[in-house]
Amino acid sequence: MNMAGKTALVTGSTDGVGRYVAARLAAAGAKVLIHGRDRARAETLAEEIKRQGQGEAVFYQADLSSLSEARQLAQAVIAGHRRLDLFISNAGIGSQNQGPQRQTSADGHELRFAVNYLSGFLLARLLLPLLKASAPSRIVNVASLGQHPIDFDDVMITRGYSGSRAYAQSKLSQIMFTIDLANELKGSGVTVNALHPATYMNTTMVRAGGITPMSTVEQGGEAILHLAVGDDMAGKSGLFFNGMQQARANPQAYDETARGQLRALSLKLTGLSAA
Ligand SMILES: NC(=O)c1ccc[n+]([C@@H]2O[C@H](COP(=O)([O-])OP(=O)(O)OC[C@H]3O[C@@H](n4cnc5c(N)ncnc54)[C@H](OP(=O)(O)O)[C@@H]3O)[C@@H](O)[C@H]2O)c1
Repeated sequence: MNMAGKTALVTGSTDGVGRYVAARLAAAGAKVLIHGRDRARAETLAEEIKRQGQGEAVFYQADLSSLSEARQLAQAVIAGHRRLDLFISNAGIGSQNQGPQRQTSADGHELRFAVNYLSGFLLARLLLPLLKASAPSRIVNVASLGQHPIDFDDVMITRGYSGSRAYAQSKLSQIMFTIDLANELKGSGVTVNALHPATYMNTTMVRAGGITPMSTVEQGGEAILHLAVGDDMAGKSGLFFNGMQQARANPQAYDETARGQLRALSLKLTGLSAA
C-alpha cells in the first residue's frame, strides 16, 4: 500500500477499527483526517502516527448526532484540503450504546439512524465535489451483516423499538445509499462500496453490548482497507462485502423504489435538495 500524496478521511477513528485503519493509512504515507468526539483519544492516535514517522494526522472533532456538526466537519475538510482521495464512513454506535431505550439526535431523529446513516449520507454528499475533483477516489461505508428492512411508515421506529432493530435498520440504510450513490456516480471516477468488516470485533461497541468478541480489529480493518485501497477494487462500485468476500445484502437493498424513498427522505431530513 502506497498512500504518499493521498488524503483520507476516516470518521470514528479515535477508537476501534477506524483507529486501526487510520494508523495503517498513515503508515503507508497518507495524510489522514482523523475524526471523533474525544480530543484526548485523537491526540494519542496523532502522536502515535507522528512517532511512526510516516504520513500525517489532522484531527476534526464533530458529534455526528448533530447534522450541523456533520455539515461543519464537511466544510472544514473542504476548506482545509485541496484533495480527498478516500472517505471511510465508519463512525457508529452499536445497538446498546448509551442504553437500550429509544433515543433521539440533536435534530430529533432516531439516534442510530442519525449517527450511523444520516450523518454519513450528508458528509458523502457534501464531500462529493472534492472527491470528484480528486478522482479516481473511493468511498467506503462501514455497514454490517445486521440488516433490518426500513418501514417507511415509521422510519424513526416510534413503535416496536429495539436497539438491535434500530442498529440493523441504520446499517441497511448505509448499504441502500451505497448502491444508489454508485448508480449516480457511474463514469465520475468515484466508487462507493459497503461492507461488514468482521463479526464481533474486540471494540468498545461490542464490549458495551456485553458480547464476547469473536474477531480481531485487524481482521475487520484489513477488510476495510481492501475496499479502500485494494487494486482489485479499482473501478468496482455499488457492492457489498462480508469481510473479504462479495456478498448479498438484505433484499430491500436491491429494491429501486425503496432506495428512491430513502434517498428522498434523506435529502429532506438533511435539507439538501435533489441533485
Ligand atoms: N465491532 C464489530 O464487530 C462491528 C461489526 C460490524 C460492523 N461494525 C461497524 O464498524 C464501525 C466501527 O465500529 P467499532 O466496533 O470500531 O466501534 P467503536 O470502537 O465503538 O468506535 C466507534 C467510533 O465511532 C465514533 N462515534 C461514535 N458515536 C459518534 C458520534 N455521535 N459522533 C462522532 N463519532 C462517533 C467513536 O468516537 P468517540 O471516540 O468520540 O467515541 C469511535 O471513534 C461501526 O460503523 C460499526 O457499526 C462493527
